[in-house]
This record gives sequence, C-alpha cells and structure tokens, in this order.
Amino acid sequence: MTWALTPDTIKFIIDNFPKGSKILELGSGDGTRELLANGFQVFSIEQDPEWAFKYHDEYILAPVKFNETSKRWWFDPTYLEGKLPTEYDLLLVDGPTGHTPDYNDCRLGILDHLELFNMQVPLLVDDVDRPEELELFNILSEGRESSLHGRFGVIQ
Ligand SMILES: C[S@@+](CC[C@H](N)C(=O)[O-])C[C@H]1O[C@@H](n2cnc3c(N)ncnc32)[C@H](O)[C@@H]1O
Repeated sequence: MTWALTPDTIKFIIDNFPKGSKILELGSGDGTRELLANGFQVFSIEQDPEWAFKYHDEYILAPVKFNETSKRWWFDPTYLEGKLPTEYDLLLVDGPTGHTPDYNDCRLGILDHLELFNMQVPLLVDDVDRPEELELFNILSEGRESSLHGRFGVIQ
C-alpha cells in the first residue's frame, strides 16, 4: 500500500491551486510534507499520535470512535466541533486510516458529519480505486461537477 498522496495527486494540486492555498486534510503523512514544501498551508486532522504534529503546527489529534448509528469508525467528532477552520481552498479526504477490516469503510463516516466542513470548496477524495472511497466520491459528487483521475477524484 502507498500511504502518501501520489506524485500525480500532488502535481494536480500544484497545477490547480495557487501557492499559499489552504488545504484542510483528513489523514496526514509524508504527503503533508510535500504539500508544505510546495508552498501550501495545511491544517490536518489525524488520529494517530505518530503522524500528528510532525510537519507543521496546525493539527487536531482526534482518535477514531465507533458510531453506533452508522456502524462506522470515524474521527471522534467532539474533538473537531468548533475547532476546525471555516475558510480553506481544498478539502482533502485521505483519512482516517484502515488498518483492519473493521475500518474499511471508515472514510464514509464524513457523511455523518458534513456540517463540520465547508462543503462549498473543491474536494479531493484519495484512494477511489477502493470500493468504499469510490462510493464516498460518488455520494459527495451528487449535483456537483466531478472527475476521476486514476487513484483520486475531484469534486468542484
Ligand atoms: C492514507 S494515510 C494519509 C496520507 C497522507 N494524506 C499523505 O499524503 O501522506 C491515512 C493514515 O495512515 C497513517 N499513515 C500515514 N502515513 C503512513 C505510513 N507511511 N505508514 C503507516 N501509516 C501511515 C496516518 O494515520 C494517516 O492518517
């Protein structure tokens, strides 16, 4: 498994967003460092202390929690409520992670908490080569212009 955003994904962001653009990222890793190196501002939501507070100083460390209603794992929303930026240029969905089969559909958990996010901005959904992330991309694309680019999808 390749954990970080691929060079193609980084290139897409560089080609389509001006330097200095602010990215709200779900799931941090080495790709975060690449985004910073290319002049982007990044705010990260991360569930793993090993990957939080690593490359910049705007992280929220939010553990994953099981939602009894949706039956999915996702970031514990109490760690996010009232703490997220409201203005950003791109929402990048690349977390939480899926270390066990229980977590396979965890990224769909964002659907239970869309009110936490500014959904007017472009979205980039990584890992759409997996069925769960493709399902998420398709749901978020409803009524919006969207395009698939190999491993990632973009919703305008
Ligand atoms: C797909 S990764 C996120 C990658 C990140 N957006 C990037 O481009 O580097 C999802 C989760 O896996 C974990 N992770 C990140 N990099 C990792 C690595 N190299 N090895 C193992 N786990 C990693 C972090 O907890 C992260 O939230």
